[in-house]
Amino acid sequence: MILALETSCDETAAAVVDAEGSILASVVASQAELHAPYGGVVPEVASRRHLELTVPVVERALADAGASLDDLDAVAVTEGPGLIGALLVGLASAKAIAFARGLPLVPVDHLHGHIAALYLQPQPLEPPFLVLLASGGHTLLAEVDDRAGYRVIGTTLDDAAGEAFDKGARLLGLGYPGGAELERLAAQGDPERHRLPVAMLGSPGHDFSFSGLKTALLYAVRDGHGGADLAASYQRAIIRSLVGRTMEAVRATGRDTLAVVGGVARNGALRAAFDGACADEGVRLALAPPELCSDNAAMIASAARFTEPIAFPDYLDRDAYASRAA
Ligand code: KG4
Ligand code: ZN
Repeated sequence: MILALETSCDETAAAVVDAEGSILASVVASQAELHAPYGGVVPEVASRRHLELTVPVVERALADAGASLDDLDAVAVTEGPGLIGALLVGLASAKAIAFARGLPLVPVDHLHGHIAALYLQPQPLEPPFLVLLASGGHTLLAEVDDRAGYRVIGTTLDDAAGEAFDKGARLLGLGYPGGAELERLAAQGDPERHRLPVAMLGSPGHDFSFSGLKTALLYAVRDGHGGADLAASYQRAIIRSLVGRTMEAVRATGRDTLAVVGGVARNGALRAAFDGACADEGVRLALAPPELCSDNAAMIASAARFTEPIAFPDYLDRDAYASRAA
């Protein structure tokens, strides 16, 4: 079995997953409340909190799995992209555990992890498929032909979709992180009330853009608008952009299966919109379970099953990376 650690942002997570991809334990300690007063993640604060939480979270995951370090075949860890100081806490901890037991270390790409959430039991998805990954840090479309990787065909030109939710929530006077709160407020509103721009639809390529929408929201708030109707209109514009651009990519690539992952895929209105769009197009839709959409370590363990391990003790000089060189 694999022990995985994930500390790329403000979640300290550990999980134990077996060779078939069954989750034996998945523990996520969120730091959201710690960062809420600042309206966003403070990197230095996140790193220090990861230092405090890593050992208890790993101990809890092993206990939940009824396992000890002796049962492990490998230790997996997110090595990037993310906040560098936060990543280094997870990486150093994973190295220490692996080294002490003479185990291999599996360095995992965080985005591969989000996609690999789809390979966990009880309904592991079989490639090929097209995937939309929409999180707080990334928004991208990728083609997946095997479980070892993915090929990016489009990204956001400015804000990530989750960032658009979080910044919009802030403009609407909601707390941080704002995605879930904005969804709750939007559920009571009329999405037809405000006309907000949906960028990129019909334009060449497969990229996204959310900054114009954010500016439109800012102007609406300045003009004295707000509340549930504006939240609903704003959420609908984000969803229209995500669903519209993704379905264009489905048609362009001719894929018959679409998957949606990442924190934003927790959004119920987005899930329903993709359900409808895929039914209309005769495309099979695979949505990661909500708890596996946002950052967790089970998805990192899942990706590790399809990633080349580094043999003991060759990983001690392995470094984390904040972003991949383009
Ligand atoms: O994947 P994730 O946990 O972390 C990153 O890798 O970024 O995604 C976090 C993002 C945040 O921007 C958060 O606001 C958004 O996912 N999110 C949501 C919802 N729940 C989380 N966005 C819209 N609706 C939700 N229900
Ligand atoms: Zn993530």
